[in-house]
Amino acid sequence: MMMKEISLHVLDIIQNSIAAQASFIEICIEISHECDKLLVSVSDNGCGMDEQLRKRVENPYATSRTTRKVGLGIPMFKASAEAAGGMFSLTSKLGEGTCIQAGYKLSHWDCPPLGDIAQTVYTSVICNENINFLYLHRVDAREFRFDTREIRRTLGEDVPFNLPEVMAWIKEYLAEGIHTLYGGA
Ligand SMILES: Nc1ncnc2c1ncn2[C@@H]1O[C@H](COP(=O)(O)OP(=O)(O)O)[C@@H](O)[C@H]1O
Ligand SMILES: [Mg+2]
Repeated sequence: MMMKEISLHVLDIIQNSIAAQASFIEICIEISHECDKLLVSVSDNGCGMDEQLRKRVENPYATSRTTRKVGLGIPMFKASAEAAGGMFSLTSKLGEGTCIQAGYKLSHWDCPPLGDIAQTVYTSVICNENINFLYLHRVDAREFRFDTREIRRTLGEDVPFNLPEVMAWIKEYLAEGIHTLYGGA
């Protein structure tokens, strides 16, 4: 069984949302030690999938003939959650968007590390200026919220994210926010 960090699965799923022409992507990480659970969700307002594609995507080996290539990003994410005593769900509506959720049992032997989620969010935000991102990260009673719409308002709508100072600020803001969630000062 592959042990891919959860943040790398999230990066894969965000790439799907970008390919689906989303203008808004919401990433949510919720860790509860009391419930022994880690929940991840990625929702987008992209092109969505019809029922036939959705079925094929979740179960790529089930169909014998395909007219177009279907990758393994989603099945691998699903397998990783299911291997760690968790759950997986994909809901999608053509023309409206897609929501992918995965749950892991924290104490499970096969629960992968979260990995560098700050890097995943940072890369996605910096490389996709035309997309708004909302990133919510909860650990027990603490919450960190990062919303590019608020940041644009603060910086001014005409300030690009790919200026070195802005990039450094975003990187620092994410790192600090996540550090604080895990008990850092
Ligand atoms: N968020 C999404 N919105 C619309 N279609 C999606 C989305 N995520 C996945 N898909 C569809 O499912 C297919 C399979 O996704 P995935 O398993 O990640 O493999 P790959 O991205 O390599 O094709 C994609 O090619 C795309 O057609
Ligand atoms: Mg993919």
